[in-house]
Formats: sequence, structure tokens, C-alpha cells
Amino acid sequence: MSWISIVLISYLLGNISPSYFIGKKFKNLDIREHGSGNAGTTNTLRVLGAKYALIVFVIDFLKGLIATQIGYKAGGLEFALVAAVAVVFGHVFPVLLKFKGGKGVATSVGALLGLFPIYGLIALLLAIALIMKTRYVSLGSIVGMSTLPFILYSARQPRESIITSIVLAGFIIFTHRENIKRLINKTERKLGEKTK
Ligand code: G3P
Repeated sequence: MSWISIVLISYLLGNISPSYFIGKKFKNLDIREHGSGNAGTTNTLRVLGAKYALIVFVIDFLKGLIATQIGYKAGGLEFALVAAVAVVFGHVFPVLLKFKGGKGVATSVGALLGLFPIYGLIALLLAIALIMKTRYVSLGSIVGMSTLPFILYSARQPRESIITSIVLAGFIIFTHRENIKRLINKTERKLGEKTK
């Protein structure tokens, strides 16, 4: 399989948006018009409840995991890294949903655990600890993702892995730019908060 096929497959896999489809199918609403407007786990929890949020997380997570595994099988680490970026990009900018998708956290977690299970888990645990402490999912997501390049660097991982983790961290910061403004203004929604 060529790297272009991997990019296309991963991008299209990223396009599958469980939060959008669940909102439409079971509640007849567009998740992107409610809560934070994000087609992802946190906003599904806020708008549709825990049961649907869990389903959304699992599917979004699996998209990242599956894309990297297809990449690995097709061409080793380099293809898996390309797949990780493409699947997250597909989740955030899905052509099927007029380029308005989610923020890429659950899909990145799946991709990163597929790529670097131990190091990804360390970053994930850090993110979870921060979320439990502050109840800001966005803050935990940004800090967890931004820490991973340092973890990989300390563990002397290949340069292309470190570069990919920097690209994904930058991407997550970009998708959370409104959350960052709200965190600074102290108006960010806390986990489980149903307001706005
Ligand atoms: O899953 C994305 C999370 O980090 C923030 O989501 O809906 O609060 O903007 P949200």
C-alpha cells in the first residue's frame, strides 16, 4: 500500500463522527450546535449524557488506534506516524461534515497509544490526573499532549516520532484556542457542567 492510500484511508476513518451521528439519530440534534459546539466526547457528555459520551470516546479512540495499526502493517513506523496525523486531521476537518468536526483528543489518544503504548500512557495518566484535579478536560488534553514530545525526547525515541508528537500537540493547541481563551478568562466549562 502506498503512503497516499494510508493518508486517504486514515483521513476518511477520521471523518466518521460518532457524536454527530448519535446526536442526529437518537436526539435529532446537531451536536455542533449545542454546548461548546465540539463534536467530541466532552461535549457529548455535556449535551447527551454519559452513556453516549462513552460510546463516542470508544469509537473516536478506535479510529486513531486502527489507523496507526493499518499504517504499521503497510509500512512500519513512518507510515503509522503519517496515519496518526491524517486520522486526527480527518476527525477535526471532516469533508463529510463540511470540515467542522471535533478537537481531536480521543482520536489522538488512540493513535498515540497505538504508536507508543508506554509513553502515551504516561501522558494520558498525567492528563487524567490534571482533569480530576481541575475538572477542565481541555487543560488536561493540552498539557498531556504537549508533554508527550518531552517524554519521547527523554526516552530517546526516533526523531520522526518526536516531530509527529510535536505536530499533534500543536494541532491540539490550535483546536483548543477558544478553550485557552476561556481558561484565561476563567469562563471555561468544567467537566459535567451543562451550562452554555
Ligand atoms: O474533548 C475536547 C476537550 O478537550 C474539550 O472539549 O467541549 O469542552 O470544548 P469542549
